[in-house]
Amino acid sequence: MNTSVKGILLAGGSGTRLHPLTQAVNKHLLAVYDKPMIYYPLTALMLAGVRDITLISTPDALPQFRQVLGDGSRWGLTLTYRPQARPEGIAQAFRIAEEDIAGHRVALMLGDNILYGSGLPKQMRLAAERVEGATIFAYRVANPERFGVVTLDRAGQPLELVEKPQNPVSHWAVPGLYFYDQKVLEIAAALKPSARGELEITDVNRVYLERGQLRVELMGRGCAWLDSGTAESLFEATQFVRVFEERTGLKIASPEEVAYRMGYIALDQLRELARAQSKSSYGAYLAQLAQAEGEFNPAL
Ligand code: G1P
Repeated sequence: MNTSVKGILLAGGSGTRLHPLTQAVNKHLLAVYDKPMIYYPLTALMLAGVRDITLISTPDALPQFRQVLGDGSRWGLTLTYRPQARPEGIAQAFRIAEEDIAGHRVALMLGDNILYGSGLPKQMRLAAERVEGATIFAYRVANPERFGVVTLDRAGQPLELVEKPQNPVSHWAVPGLYFYDQKVLEIAAALKPSARGELEITDVNRVYLERGQLRVELMGRGCAWLDSGTAESLFEATQFVRVFEERTGLKIASPEEVAYRMGYIALDQLRELARAQSKSSYGAYLAQLAQAEGEFNPAL
């Protein structure tokens, strides 16, 4: 566990690409199969060993998030809520969370990113433990022009970072999960808005690159990085989760299970959480999980 790393979950925006779905509900609270979208990035941070997390969203949506996630204590977490009055880019998150992150390393995750893969928790834990510099990930995609893109040399070292290039020279897109040392706050404070008027996370990463302090971890082809920002990609993410969960009988991104497996909560707390949701198949899964303790039950 790494207590000196603070987490930020960015779940703002008006979700215009998902209208009318998002007229009354924040995008990050929509269902991805059997749980709210925000569970996926939240559990990714938990698996990285991050337990103290600031959630940033619009003033309207914050009460809904509070209702869904509470203060985090039932999952062994400390959650803080901060409003983003106007969306001014991803890197604005550091300024909004300044009070919570000052003097700490930071793990930032975007609330609509879904990551899945067996090697990932270890890669994320190592990134969270790194004391100096920044760590980003790279994932091969068919449509790099939609993302921040990194060009790598033959040894896998980063050469260039471009936000949504019109003519990408690399297939390596940068997922919305970033790890930084304490200097990120100062870097974000000095940032100027880009041509599209946003404080770009790619510009933060470029500062680390120029200082020779940017590490890029490749996410292998056995990993899944799913987007859920459009109706089509949301549906695909739901299908992905459903196929996996039905086939294996395991759940992806259950905060209760992750909290238990990471040692954030004890078995009797897991039982209690299962009881509180006993009417849903989700609760039945937790009950089964608690019951199976003591049998052969590897943490897959
Ligand atoms: C943002 C970032 C981009 C990153 C992407 C990951 O883009 O600007 O660098 O690759 O998230 O989801 P957005 O999708 O918010 O436009």
